[in-house]
Amino acid sequence: MNIGIDKMGFYTPHLVLDMTDLAHARGDDPDKYHIGIGQSEMAVVPPTQDVVTMAANAANQIIDESDKQAIDLILFATESGVDNSKSGAVYVQRLLGLTEHTRAIEVKQACYSATAALQLAKDYIAAHPQRKALVLASDVARYGLHTPGEITQGAGAVAMVVSANPQILAISDQSTYLTQDVMDFWRPIYATEARVDGHFSANIYVDFFTNVWTRFKKTYGVDVTDFDAMLFHLPFSKMGLKALRTVLPADETVASRLTDNFESARLWNRHVGNLYTGSLYLSLLSLLANGTLADNAQLGLFSYGSGAEGEFYTATVQPNYRNGFDQVKIESLLNARQQVSVGEYEQLFSDQLPTDGSTKKLDIAADPAHFVLAGIDNEQRQYQAH
Ligand code: CAA
Repeated sequence: MNIGIDKMGFYTPHLVLDMTDLAHARGDDPDKYHIGIGQSEMAVVPPTQDVVTMAANAANQIIDESDKQAIDLILFATESGVDNSKSGAVYVQRLLGLTEHTRAIEVKQACYSATAALQLAKDYIAAHPQRKALVLASDVARYGLHTPGEITQGAGAVAMVVSANPQILAISDQSTYLTQDVMDFWRPIYATEARVDGHFSANIYVDFFTNVWTRFKKTYGVDVTDFDAMLFHLPFSKMGLKALRTVLPADETVASRLTDNFESARLWNRHVGNLYTGSLYLSLLSLLANGTLADNAQLGLFSYGSGAEGEFYTATVQPNYRNGFDQVKIESLLNARQQVSVGEYEQLFSDQLPTDGSTKKLDIAADPAHFVLAGIDNEQRQYQAH
């Protein structure tokens, strides 16, 4: 029985910053951002969006009435959670009208946790083939104004329905993973911005890829030539290219197939920035939408989360994969975004919700998303559809 991703939805806020504008404001050469980092635009988050609303907006694109009854496991992967106790998955269950007879939890391990959630969901469906699981990957990547990490920020959410006989991707049982206690990137409980040892983190990323990939090849007797595309966690799109270059074979046909597919796989990420847990899965969507894949194309996926965990696994693209996501809707979402100036971005970055328990009402009229955060009342977040 094939098990894997049946449907995928994507959401990013309606505000966006052009990286050329940011480069000029910071006194940098725009080529550093566009070529050296590989980012053209960066999502900017209005106060009316957070990881819960973004996840609900992404899932709302794909959930139908039959899913609402069949989903009895909601796994919410994030490292930007809005509450130290309550799971974002519980809010999403209510906002989407999913059955109450569901397990709904949040999972955390930096950018890796959506992959852990996906693999756990796959095992769950293997034990309960009639049911479905909803995996949500939602994050706001925040490093701080004028920091080296600033140009690798972003935000958004990917929602995935996991089921038997999936439309998009059958996930194989073959995978290798690695966990080591490394301080390359972290966020103390009191901080809203990540702490990062930037160049060290990029080296650790490649080390983890090399480790799990070498182990994968040895364990399953495969080589890079067996793959149609290699996908990577993309904290910034050049990062995946750096990892890919370590395995490109001498065979030019294979190398250009892998690099061409990588270009398709980083297209949408270039225009959104880092979405931590969702980055690998936005890259997957970008490849499915913008690439030309043969029937039953073989994908290798590398997931990385600082701290650190890495996993390499494989999956097979299903014949009717284009039915599992709405390309037109995603493109209109990206194209309809409103550009903000660097000054507006800086203001939005600094406009944080109160942390002293006071009440705040937000102006939701300007936000075109279906689900929004309307404010904080009695220390409770007020989520609603509008
Ligand atoms: N034209 C073209 N390229 C240029 C250029 C120009 N004018 N100027 C510079 N470049 C290139 C540089 O040569 C460099 O390329 P290589 O990496 O291929 O050598 C690239 O642009 C970046 O330049 P710097 O290394 O000088 O940039 P920096 O020191 O300002 O910061 C960074 C880069 C370390 C990635 C920083 O943005 C950062 O700390 N980001 C956050 C950390 C991160 O994303 N780490 C990734 C691994 S961890 C992870 O994956 C988990 C996660 O999601 C966070």
